[in-house]
Order: sequence, then structure tokens, then C-alpha cells
Amino acid sequence: MPFLGLVSILILLVNLHQNVTPYSLENCEIHDNAENETKVLCYHRNLSEVPAHLPSKVVFLDLSENRIASLRKNSFSNLIHLHVLNISQNQIHHIEEGAFVNTCHLEILNLTGNQLHLISSPMFAGLRNLTILLLGNNQIDKIETSAFVHLEKLKVIDLSSNRLHALNAMDAIFNMESLEKLHIKDNNLQNFSTKEIVSVPLILHELDASHNPISVLDVSTPVLQSLVSLDLSFSTPKTPIVWLIQDPCFLKGLKVLYLGGIAMNPSGILEVIQTLNCSLLEIIYLDHLNLTESDGLIEQVCLSHQNIETLHLLGNKFTSVKARAFEKCTHLRHLNMAFNKLKVLPVSLFQSLPYLQILSLAYNKFTLVPNATSNVASLETLDLSFNKIKRISPDDFAHLNNVKSLYMTGNTISHVTSNLFANLHRLQELDLGENALKMIKEPFSASLQMLKTLILRQNKMDHITKGIFRNLASLQLLNLADNQIATIKPGAFEGLSNLQSLILGSNKITKETFHKGVFQGASSLEDLELFSNYMSYESSQKLAYPPFHLLKSLKRLQINSQRHDGLQNFPVNFLEGLESIVQIHAGNLAISSLDSDTFKYTPTLKELDLSNNNLNSISATLFAPLSNLKELHLNKNGLNSLSFVSQVNFSQLGLLRLAGNQIDVVTREQIKALPLLLFLDLRNNPFTCCCSNQDFLRWSPMNPKTQVLHFSEYTCASPPAYKEKKLWTFKTSSCTANHDFILYITNTAAVILLMLVCFCCQWRWHMVYTYHLLLAYFIDKKQKRKGQDIEYNYDAFVSYNTRDEKWVMNYLLPVLENQYSWKLCLHHRDFEPGRFILENIVDNIYSSRKTICVISRHYLESEWCSKEIQVASFRIFDQHKDVLILIFLEDIPCEYLSPYHRMRRLIKKKTYLKWPQEEQEIQFFWHKLNMAMKTGEGKEEEHPIVAGFVFDEIP
Ligand SMILES: *[C@@H]1O[C@H](CO)[C@@H](O)[C@H](O)[C@H]1NC(C)=O
Ligand SMILES: *[C@@H]1O[C@H](CO)[C@@H](O)[C@H](O)[C@H]1NC(C)=O
Ligand SMILES: *[C@@H]1O[C@H](CO)[C@@H](O)[C@H](O)[C@H]1NC(C)=O
Ligand SMILES: *[C@@H]1O[C@H](CO)[C@@H](O)[C@H](O)[C@H]1NC(C)=O
Repeated sequence: MPFLGLVSILILLVNLHQNVTPYSLENCEIHDNAENETKVLCYHRNLSEVPAHLPSKVVFLDLSENRIASLRKNSFSNLIHLHVLNISQNQIHHIEEGAFVNTCHLEILNLTGNQLHLISSPMFAGLRNLTILLLGNNQIDKIETSAFVHLEKLKVIDLSSNRLHALNAMDAIFNMESLEKLHIKDNNLQNFSTKEIVSVPLILHELDASHNPISVLDVSTPVLQSLVSLDLSFSTPKTPIVWLIQDPCFLKGLKVLYLGGIAMNPSGILEVIQTLNCSLLEIIYLDHLNLTESDGLIEQVCLSHQNIETLHLLGNKFTSVKARAFEKCTHLRHLNMAFNKLKVLPVSLFQSLPYLQILSLAYNKFTLVPNATSNVASLETLDLSFNKIKRISPDDFAHLNNVKSLYMTGNTISHVTSNLFANLHRLQELDLGENALKMIKEPFSASLQMLKTLILRQNKMDHITKGIFRNLASLQLLNLADNQIATIKPGAFEGLSNLQSLILGSNKITKETFHKGVFQGASSLEDLELFSNYMSYESSQKLAYPPFHLLKSLKRLQINSQRHDGLQNFPVNFLEGLESIVQIHAGNLAISSLDSDTFKYTPTLKELDLSNNNLNSISATLFAPLSNLKELHLNKNGLNSLSFVSQVNFSQLGLLRLAGNQIDVVTREQIKALPLLLFLDLRNNPFTCCCSNQDFLRWSPMNPKTQVLHFSEYTCASPPAYKEKKLWTFKTSSCTANHDFILYITNTAAVILLMLVCFCCQWRWHMVYTYHLLLAYFIDKKQKRKGQDIEYNYDAFVSYNTRDEKWVMNYLLPVLENQYSWKLCLHHRDFEPGRFILENIVDNIYSSRKTICVISRHYLESEWCSKEIQVASFRIFDQHKDVLILIFLEDIPCEYLSPYHRMRRLIKKKTYLKWPQEEQEIQFFWHKLNMAMKTGEGKEEEHPIVAGFVFDEIP
């Protein structure tokens, strides 16, 4: 159809001027944060290449967990603003020379978990501002000497888990003057000899050489003098480790030493530590060494290094500790003895430690709070979690005046009394989670004036009595999750005037729990979590006491996932009183309908999650009060249409998630109703690969604002020929004809231009056709202007294919002409012989009141017929009259209709008739056809031809 082709070219030219920039790319998400920093997230997307056309403004790019095998010269060439690049967990084995020459602002490059073997000299050229380079978990066995010379600002390099078996393979690293931290963990390094290192950057202060089977550690040159932290933990060679420290002052800067899990016995370790007498060690890790009290290592270490501030003894085999073990470690601030087998401790153990602030005895075997801890006045954090402590008494904490955090998680405490914590005046955080508390009868002590966090989760409480928290005026977070709470007495939260977060998830709360005064006193509450309880309502009728009516400051409410059968009904005034609410999570509640007044109480709402319910239709007014809504989650609801968005003011909505629904079509109107939308998620919907989605298909990849998340994964469920095909593969070009045609009609200038083009190209046929079309148009216009009525020669022009002639002659003609007395125009009968056939068509259509198209596959394939439809549809646009009557002789599947898309559109707008298969329906068919013929007769107002019609589904 060169005629329409020309129009298309014209339209294309018009479109080119609109300057559209694509925004969604290959399933990546683009986020702009408040500081105008653009993040592009493409992780875990099965990408095999760096996506082309990344926006050049991107500052943070995450391409991790894909299948990218190589980085090319131009992969990042336009990303001149990139600061952070994460391409970890790919299959990169090759980086082309110059891949990073343009990313000169890059500061962090994460190449962890790839397949690089060689770091070559030009690989990282251009990365002048790089400060962190992560190359862990590759197969690097060679680094060219000048590989890092461009990296003038590099501070941290991670080469863990590679194959750099020897230090002399790392010259390139030690040549970097700016390097501060070096990780060469797990490289199968067997010999650590400073002789192999020519020089070391002066500011290198952290070296992680752990998890190597180092059997010889030879410090015979002073290159590591400024090293502060040395990690040699889990050195497990097959032969015993030999330390050769020629001069202890070759390591004089050392302050932090990691020897956990090293394959040495306590006396060997002691010898090493004693040798380091030139260093002022402050932090020593002696974890996982099978140490016991009998080996006396602690005493000796403390004796030789009295400046130790932090001592880690995790995961050893201590059952007790000698009374004077820490005596000389007078500077100790932090002692960690978690994961031992401690049962008792000497009372005076910590008495010589005036600065001890943090003490962890978690995961031991204490059955009582050790007396040794009760009088450490300097203590600020005491961790006794995961022991076997059954009872606690006021004496346990008698002198802990400075403790701010007390962790008693995971014991078997069943009672707490008012006076228990009476001496903990400074306590800010108390964790009693995972114990066996059944009931708290007495109020928490009035001394806990500074308590901000109280964790009581995973106990066995079934009710909350009045006033137990009344002294906790500073409390901000109260966690009561995972109990059996069914009853909350009036006044239970009395006194909690600063409470911000209340977590009541996973309890046995039912609707009966919410009596009138349940939240009395907690008036500053901002977060309330009620997920996984047993709330359910028989109806959505108004409640006498809406449960949250006292919570005027509440900002976030979680009521998702009620157990058993879900909330089921959502009382119409359930949300009454939530004047400040911004976020509601109400997913997974088996709600099947919501009264349209449900949200009238919550106009401040910004985020609403109703996913995993059964809201298969949404009334037009439901979201009407929510004009501030920014995020709406409606995943998995069985919604079959997006039509609700066009009826509401969603002018603020930025995120709309509708994954896993039954939506098949997204229309232009729906898209237009969401002007600020940034993200639209329509994954797992049964799209229709038809022109009804053409606007969505064109808009999704090209619009400059909204990202249609995972667009390229959307698949079609219909029509059958497109089942399981990707939506984006559907060609909308077949749909453009009508669109263009309308534009053509409305743009006379374009027509004239087109005529000129026709002349120039000497396409006589089309020129003549266009000429006639215009002639008819202008005559028609003139008549209309004069107010003349057009004289019709025929009632209907019948357009059909010769192969359907039998049907027309045997069925249509007898009934319409003989039975109903309509005058028809058939081209073989009524066309003037000798006249040009196009002239005949145009004239006859214009001199017939209606045009009947008899549609079959043959018809659609016929060139003439489509021209006839064009003329007829031209008349529709021109005269706003329903001139076209479509009769389908057979079922024509959607995909077959696609190329004739103008017709599809017409079918959609107009109604059409189908020649019935059943004998008894034929009479009704003729009746309908007659009705259609009658519309537009005489002078009455034109109505669509649908009067009295059955609307058939579009094939
Ligand atoms: C972000 O960019 C926009 C337009 O480019 C500008 O108007 C706005 O002031 C910028 N905001 C910040 C925080 O830089
Ligand atoms: C680098 O990648 C690894 C592996 O994916 C990840 O664990 C780590 O957090 C990343 N680090 C940075 C700074 O991006
Ligand atoms: C490198 O970073 C500094 C600030 O950290 C900045 O001033 C400079 O412009 C950056 N240079 C390049 C080439 O990006
Ligand atoms: C500690 O003992 C366990 C088993 O008794 C042994 O497997 C492990 O290698 C020992 N660890 C050290 C550092 O000696």
C-alpha cells in the first residue's frame, strides 16, 4: 500500500521532531535520588552484555549477578559521571584495553567474582580517581608490573581468593604509593617473606593475608614498619609455621594482630606475641584456637602487652578463667569471650579492669548471671545472650550503674519483677527476647527513666496487664512480637508517652483485642505492626470503636498476613482516626472488596500495599480520597483491568505495582492518568498481543519518564498464535495505518504534499484515487456548507470479494432488496461500464447512504476492498456518520486481522454483525441488519449502528 506508506513516512518525519529519549533499558531500574545522583540497577537480569544506551548521567551502576563475559572499549565510554560500578558475580574474563578511559570519576570498581586471569597494564587506564578496587574471587595469577600505575588515588585493593601464590607476583601492588589497605586473603600463599617485597607504600596500614597456608613468615627487612593491622588468621599449612622476625622493630607500627584459627599451639602463639615487644599492640584476636584456662596464655599475653584494649577470645574452649588472668590488662575496654563453654567466673575476675566497657559472654553455659559482672562499674554493654540463665535477681545488676545496653536474649528467664533493674539508671536498651516470660505482673522499675528500647519478643506472654510500662516515659521501641498475646488490658500502654514503635506481630490478637481504650497513653505512636495475628471481620460494616482511633500520630501501619483465613472483610471505618498515616501494609488478607469510603479517613496516605488479596475489581471512587498517594502495590489480586486509574486523581503516584494480575490491555487513557509515574510493574499479566496494546507498546520503551519494570519479560496469553510470545515482539507497525489515516484527514497540508509527491512519482493510480477522494470530500463539504441534503442513489454500497459473491447474491441481496426493500449498489451490477474503477468506487460510496462490507479472509486480502473501506471510513471521519456496516462471514482471528488494523479499530468502535452458524439465528441476523440499515435514514440524529444490536466479542 504505497499510498499509506507515504503517509507513514510523513508521520515518521513529524515524529522525529519530537525528540524522544528512551528511558527504560533492558530491565534495568533507574533511580534519581534527592541529590540528583542517578542510580541504574541491572543486577540479576541475565544480561550477557553491558546494556547500550545507559544514560550518561548515571553515577551508580550495578550490573552484578549477570553473565557478562567481557568489557569492551565502548562499554562505558559515555558514562563520564560514573562514581560507583559494581560488575561483581559475572563471567568476565577479558577487559578490553581502554574500557575505562572515559570513566575518570570512578571511585569504586567492584569486579569480585569474575574469571579474570591476568591484570594487564592498559586494563585500568583512565581510572585516576579510583579509590577502591575489588578483584576478589577471580582466577588472577599474574599482574603486570605497571598494571596499577594509572591508579594514583587507589587506597583499597582486594585480591582475596585468587591465585597469587607468591608475594613477588604482587610488585604492581606494592608500587602504588597511595595504597592503604591490601587484602590478599586465600591465595594459597605459602611463603610470606618481606625480602620478596622491594618497597611498600608508606601509608599501607592494613594487610589481610589470612586463610593462606603460610608456613614461613619471614620479616627480615623493615618494609612493613608502618603496618598497623596484620591479619594472619586461619593460616593452616601442612608443616608447622616458622616465624623469622629478625628485628621486632621491623613491625613497630603494629597495633592490631589477628591470629584466630592459626595452626599454632598456645606456646607458639605466646612466643610470637612476646617477640613483638617493639609494637604497642592494642587489639588482639585469639579466636578459634582451642584455648583453655590451663594453658595460661591470657596471663602471659597481658603481661607482655599491657596496652591491650581489645581482646577477642571467641570460640575457644574456656570453661572458666583464672582469677588473675586479666590482671595486667588494665587498659582493657572490650573483652569478647562468646562461644566458649564458660559456666562460672571468679568473682574478682574483672576487678583490675577499671576501663572495661564492653563485655560479651554470649553463647556460653551460664545458668546464673556471673557474680563477676555485677560490680564492674565501668561496664556499658553486657551481653549474656544465649546462655542457660533461668533466674535473674536485683543483685545481679547491683552495681552496674553505667550499663546502657543489657542483652539477655535466648535464656530461660520466666519472671521479671519491678525491682530487678532498679539499679540500671542509665539503661537504654534491654533485650529479654527469646526467654520464657509468661506474664509480667509488676511495672518495670521507675529507675528505667532512660530506657529507649525494650525487646520482649518470642516469649510466652498471653496478655498485657495494665500499667506495666507506665514508668518507661523514654521508651521509643517496644517489641512484643512472637508471643501469645490475645488480651491487652485497658491502660496497658499507659505512660508510654514517647513510644514511637510498637511491634505486636505474630501474636493471637483478634478483633476482640481492640476495645475502646487499648492504645490509650501511646499517643505518640508512629509505627504499629500487627502482621500475622488472627484479626478477621464478618462484615465490612461500621465498627462502634474503630481500633486505631486514638492513634493520631501513627504514620505506618502493618496489618498484613492475618492467620487462618485473613481479615476477609475490611470494616468501612477501620482506618478512622489515623490522621497522620502515610503507609499501610494490608497485603495477604483475603479481602475481596473494599467499600468506597474505606480511605476517606486517610487522605494523608502516601504508600498503600494491598497485594495478595482478591480485589478483582476496584470501584471507581475507592482511591479518590488518596490524592497524595505515591506508591500503590496491587500485585496478585486478579484485577483484569487498569481502568480504575483513569477515574482517580493519581497525580502524585510514582510507583504502581500490578504484577500477577489478569490485565491484558493498557490503554492510552490509563497511561495519561498517571502523569508522575516513575515505575510501573506489570510482570506476569496475560497480555494480548493485539493493536489494542499498541499505545502501551510504543510508550513503554520510549517515554521519557516512566520505567516499565521488566518490560521485555512480559508475555502474551492471547491470541493463540502469540501465546507465550514476548509482548515487545508484537509489531505495532501493522496498527499504524488508522492512526496515520486520521492524521492525514486532519491535516490538509499533508494531503496536498502527498498529492505533490504522487505527481512527482507518477504513481498514476494512487494519484487518481487521491484526486477522487479529495473531489468527493470537497463536493461533500460544499454541499454541507450550503446546508443541502445529499441525494443518495442507493441505500447501501456493498463491498465484497468475488469469492463471496455466492453468499451476496443468494442471501444478502434477496433479503435486503426483496424483503426489506433497500436499494443496494453492487459493483458488478451497478458500476458504470467503461468508467475508471476508482471513480466508480468513490462515487458509489458517496452516493450510497451506507457501505456494507462483507468480510472474509478473501475480502481482507483484496486490494480493492481495503480501498473501499478507506473511502467509507473517510466518510465516517468527515461526516461523523455511521456509514459502515461490517458483516463477518467467518471467524477471523485477531492476529490475522492485525495487518488490516484500520478495520480492527473500526470493529472496535462500531459494532459488527456475524453471519450465524446456527439456522435459527439467521432470522435474527437479518433483523439486526435491517435495524442497522435504518439508522441514519431520514433526518433524525445519527446514532451508532448499534441500536438493538447484540455486541459481539471482537474476534
Ligand atoms: C537537580 O536537578 C534539577 C534539574 O536538573 C535542578 O533543578 C535541581 O536543583 C537539582 N537538585 C539538586 C539537589 O542538585
Ligand atoms: C562487591 O561485590 C561483592 C560480591 O557481589 C559484594 O558482596 C560486595 O558487597 C560488593 N562491594 C561493594 C563495595 O560494592
Ligand atoms: C577526582 O576527585 C576529586 C575529589 O575527590 C575531584 O575534585 C576531581 O575533580 C576528580 N577528578 C577526576 C578526574 O574525576
Ligand atoms: C581445635 O580442635 C579441633 C578439634 O578438636 C581441631 O579440628 C582444630 O583444628 C583445632 N584448632 C586449632 C587452631 O588447633
